[in-house]
Amino acid sequence: MVLVPRIPLRKSFVMNPFFKKLGESVYDQWRKANFDLTLFPDLARKALEKRKPSNHVDLQELIHEFLLSDEQPFQTSSGFGQPELILFDNPKFYIQALFWLDATTDIHQHEFSGAFHVMAGSSIHSTYDFEKAKSVTAHFRLGDLKLQDVSLLQTGSTVPITSGRTCIHSLFHLETPSITIVIRTHSDPGTGPQFTYLPPHVALDPVQQDALTTRRKQLLDVLEHTGAPDYGDLVLKMLGELDLERGFFVLQNCFGHLRNLGEWDRAWSRFARKHGSAVSPIKKTLEEIIRRDALTAMRSSIEDVEHRFFLALLLNLERRDDLLRLISSRHQGNALTTILRWASELIQVDETGVWLLDARIPWLNDLDEEELPSLVLEVLDQLLKIQGKAVKTAPAWKGPQAAKFAVIKECLMSSSWRVLLH
Ligand SMILES: [Fe+2]
Repeated sequence: MVLVPRIPLRKSFVMNPFFKKLGESVYDQWRKANFDLTLFPDLARKALEKRKPSNHVDLQELIHEFLLSDEQPFQTSSGFGQPELILFDNPKFYIQALFWLDATTDIHQHEFSGAFHVMAGSSIHSTYDFEKAKSVTAHFRLGDLKLQDVSLLQTGSTVPITSGRTCIHSLFHLETPSITIVIRTHSDPGTGPQFTYLPPHVALDPVQQDALTTRRKQLLDVLEHTGAPDYGDLVLKMLGELDLERGFFVLQNCFGHLRNLGEWDRAWSRFARKHGSAVSPIKKTLEEIIRRDALTAMRSSIEDVEHRFFLALLLNLERRDDLLRLISSRHQGNALTTILRWASELIQVDETGVWLLDARIPWLNDLDEEELPSLVLEVLDQLLKIQGKAVKTAPAWKGPQAAKFAVIKECLMSSSWRVLLH
């Protein structure tokens, strides 16, 4: 007789009775529906809404159990979340808790389906379409990323997730930490790559970056940090040789340092000469990356919750009406008055001029250190009221004052404030 070793059935280890019950309930319902993938997002959403983790899970208990009990489901080595904890594991799907400390997610689509629930904190949720998309390679696409909808997700909100290009979104977490519970399939075949979108025009596959390009970018970082004298020339030579996709990655990596070296225009001309009209969406995307990086960096140094909320709005929203609507949903009173108050709290002065977030207004003749900040706030007040674009100068400004108004207006319109001024 041949002894066949008995293979134990896979056991679903769970750390918390709530998620055990939730997972088993979702499994039972989905099994009855023959594991029809199209039904899973709604099924997961309903399960999260029926017994909301935000109402029924004791966060302290959850953390203690995870730290002190070894009876945990299989944990991935995923870099997603800060961190990601797997709370229920099943061959068909799993449940995860994602902690977010200071994070905005990239604009992305999914290769999985399910639903997510805001268990703690709140988030700005933006959804997008990617129109007129053209593949440059299987992992790099150009098109027009259009913001469709923006909403504020409060604690207890649940949103379904559909795999593929019909569900492109981003989340900006407002509180620290924000915690999201996700019920999700492992992977839905045929719905990849899981593109990341760089507004306004680029989609790229974050998983399939070629290793040679990664190492070259790292080597360029070494040259940047060591102040290599031939840095600009080397990048230019690379741009003269590389295809569009890899040239973009090199430009994205080197943009800041090339600008500091005064080499940016030369590098861009080289890239544009090689690839012709195809590069115009790429230039706009690189400029937007710089803008977003600057605002994201400010979020780490600005601690006031209201100011961080305002930065998040400037980072994510493209329409003045959306911005005013979301401010009104969290703050009583006139949204423009609130913005002006924030501006007066955020304004800073250094040797180069006055800073209002990413807007720098240089020192102007005849104005001292105390006068310029007040003038900037006065101009901002007027521009917010008249929405900037419609008039060249406000009626109250004449002669030399009109010239100062024009300079300040130009600086504000070249910054993240522009979304509010037209
Ligand atoms: Fe997502």
